[in-house]
Amino acid sequence: MSFDNLLLERDGAVAILTINRPQVLNALNAPTVDALRRAILELKHDTAVRVVILTGAGEKAFVAGADIHELAVQRPVDGKEHALRGQHVFDLIENMGKPVIAAINGYALGGGCELAMACTLRMASDTARLGQPEINLGIIPGYAGTQRLARLVGKGMALELLLSGRHVTAAEALQVGLVNRVVPAAELMTESKKLASELAAKPPVAVRYIIEAVNRGLEMPLDKGQFLEATLFGLVASTDDMREGTTAFLEKRKADFKGR
Ligand code: COA
Repeated sequence: MSFDNLLLERDGAVAILTINRPQVLNALNAPTVDALRRAILELKHDTAVRVVILTGAGEKAFVAGADIHELAVQRPVDGKEHALRGQHVFDLIENMGKPVIAAINGYALGGGCELAMACTLRMASDTARLGQPEINLGIIPGYAGTQRLARLVGKGMALELLLSGRHVTAAEALQVGLVNRVVPAAELMTESKKLASELAAKPPVAVRYIIEAVNRGLEMPLDKGQFLEATLFGLVASTDDMREGTTAFLEKRKADFKGR
């Protein structure tokens, strides 16, 4: 399947999805957000795909935000629908049940920072700049930036970044927990692929349940989150991979997970 403004490549169990509007620093317009929705659903249901890498075309940007040409003319009712559509697509990414690695190759601003935060892990090039500059346009984030940023970096830092609109360097993003790792720009894709291959070799049902337990658990009181964890812990015992992982340990050999 082909998608507007998106490139999709497959490399074994790893899919690489590239937002491809470099002339506007990969800004997300409505057709691109819709293409992202369709691509994510396809990858979610493709059992051959274990991990997704999401990046931006060109050297300069991951995604420089929602498309400001669209924002400039939106009316209140459109604005609400626009935000709900984007939030829905980013929720699909967060909860697709497979790790999605954001390979942040430059500016990740506004909707771009929100997109990176919806991913499971964030790998940034040392040239990356992240931020939520919506305040400087007289608006607020609409793709869950106010929610995910506070959950990732804490309320104080989130409010500072949201209210100032300032861009942070990759190093500061690492320091505050907004990204997981920073690597030299020339090594970003190699390192992202290395991490993706490592995760692709893990047992996929356990991977899915860990993501589910963390994502859902964070929205629950501790006792309910623990109950969810216990239930998923029980369910994972039904997999061949659980038997393989524990047997391989006891037999002092490397586990060979089959994904069942
Ligand atoms: N929406 C639409 N177009 C965008 C865009 C966005 N979010 N971000 C960049 N572009 C366009 C620019 O208008 C420019 O188009 P032009 O060549 O037709 O003039 C092109 O991309 C290149 O951007 P430019 O601003 O010339 O690059 P720069 O290196 O001087 O600055 C940024 C880079 C990222 C600092 C700057 O583009 C910027 O601040 N973008 C907006 C970021 C933002 O506010 N995002 C949140 C939106 S909710």
